[in-house]
Amino acid sequence: MTDTSAELTVDEHLREDEWFDSISRDCVDGLTSDPKWLSPVWFYDEVGSRLFDEITKLDEYYPTRAEASLLADHAAEIIERSGADTLVELGSGTSDKTEHLLDALDATGTLERYVPFDVSGETVRNAADRLIDRYPGLRIHAVVGDFHRHLGEIPQVGRRLVAFLGGTIGNLSPGERSPFLRDLASTMSDDDHLLLGCDLVKDHETLVTAYDDPSGVTAEFNRNALRHANSRLGADFVPENFEHRAVWNGQDAWIEMRLRSTVDQDVDLGSLDTTVHFEAGEELRTEISAKFTPARIDAELTDAGFVVVAMWTAEPGYLLTLARRSITRQE
Ligand code: AVJ
Repeated sequence: MTDTSAELTVDEHLREDEWFDSISRDCVDGLTSDPKWLSPVWFYDEVGSRLFDEITKLDEYYPTRAEASLLADHAAEIIERSGADTLVELGSGTSDKTEHLLDALDATGTLERYVPFDVSGETVRNAADRLIDRYPGLRIHAVVGDFHRHLGEIPQVGRRLVAFLGGTIGNLSPGERSPFLRDLASTMSDDDHLLLGCDLVKDHETLVTAYDDPSGVTAEFNRNALRHANSRLGADFVPENFEHRAVWNGQDAWIEMRLRSTVDQDVDLGSLDTTVHFEAGEELRTEISAKFTPARIDAELTDAGFVVVAMWTAEPGYLLTLARRSITRQE
């Protein structure tokens, strides 16, 4: 069936204030823990999203380019092998990288529906407006939600390709990854496919430089978490009193972004009614970005109830995996 009219539906499962309350609670938890941590969601206000966009253009930050080239080279094959008419995208953001897949669906004449899933209603609405102009007749059914809680709300319509790109899966700890992948498998039917983009383990120099570029954009992006907390919470972080660090943790196979307090200082968290103390030299972890091997991804997907259909890699080490749900689930 072909739809000739463009249509936008937005299901909001998460209100902005609810989301804000939940990240605020996390913020108190993390900053009163030892060692201290802060969720990477604090990077992304308007300034932070712009800084991330700048990061993706840096010579040192290869993942975005590597993934884009994989999508450009293999989108047609991915679409063909998945037989999809519906593209679901987890953490869709501005939906920029999605266009390779939408173009390939469009070219085979099977493009029916796009389901962007993101925590930000405003971001998905902006992306939807742009895509409706670009793909006349495309139906967009956006879902605003958090992928720890609302995967079950993704509409079960069409033959779906569920894309989770950008290496964002690396932001989850191993303990979060396995329930996430299981939840995801449980929302998928035997006809659905998963397309997962993730960064690979490689020499430590390349990895660290990607997260500590000499022009200092990543350092500003990291410190932006503090500026964001200042503006949203009325906290009084002095960003200049924190030094950017990117550390390769070979044991856990992840990059850690940290902010190291250069002085002894107290920080008032404003509306969170909490004061936290930093010793000189004390480090705050702001992100983990896990790096994988193809064998590890295969094992984790198999464990969660998927079967790998195909894998593609690009230099200097980035992996795109197409998987489907296994017919006989391993519980
Ligand atoms: C958007 C989470 C995939 O981990 O590489 C870029 C974020 N952090 N530089 C990543 C990021 C520092 C990025 N992800």
